[in-house]
Amino acid sequence: VSRLDSFIRRMTAQRDILDTMPARLGALPGPVYEFGLGSGRTYDHLRQLFPDRRIVVFESVVCEWVARPPEADFVIGDLRETAAAWPEADAALIHADIETGTAEIDRTLATWLPALVARLLRPGGYAVSGCPLPHPALIACPLPASIDPDRYHLAQRS
Ligand SMILES: C[S@@+](CC[C@H](N)C(=O)[O-])C[C@H]1O[C@@H](n2cnc3c(N)ncnc32)[C@H](O)[C@@H]1O
Repeated sequence: VSRLDSFIRRMTAQRDILDTMPARLGALPGPVYEFGLGSGRTYDHLRQLFPDRRIVVFESVVCEWVARPPEADFVIGDLRETAAAWPEADAALIHADIETGTAEIDRTLATWLPALVARLLRPGGYAVSGCPLPHPALIACPLPASIDPDRYHLAQRS
């Protein structure tokens, strides 16, 4: 499997899980948080999936050529600090695609990301993520049948 194949499978898994989220959330209130704007592709997809929800984006690196969210919904800085200041148990959905592809760096995500996601999600809310989120309050959910286990992750806040 080439790196291109691997990237395409990962992005397909991301999209296929996110596409199930409007039905999963149903009437659950709360905003969507996007961790990592990157090129804004996923943000653009989230806007199509959730035209009536607030989508707040957290990003540390601002690129001039990437379309930005409205100022009130764009939080610039390291989300370990910026997102930590946001209200507890409010978000309905958090999507976190902040891996670097470097194993040593990405392993450190497990030391802070699961606890941050668990704190920000409301009970019944969901986390969709590129890395696993081991935390007692985040219950792993079955993935759509098209997605291999460990390619992308879905959990619900208890
Ligand atoms: C893989 S890219 C996101 C790709 C995005 N889904 C897209 O559609 O392009 C990861 C992004 O997360 C951001 N990021 C990584 N760690 C972060 C942190 N601790 N705080 C804020 N942003 C972070 C990076 O700057 C990068 O833009």
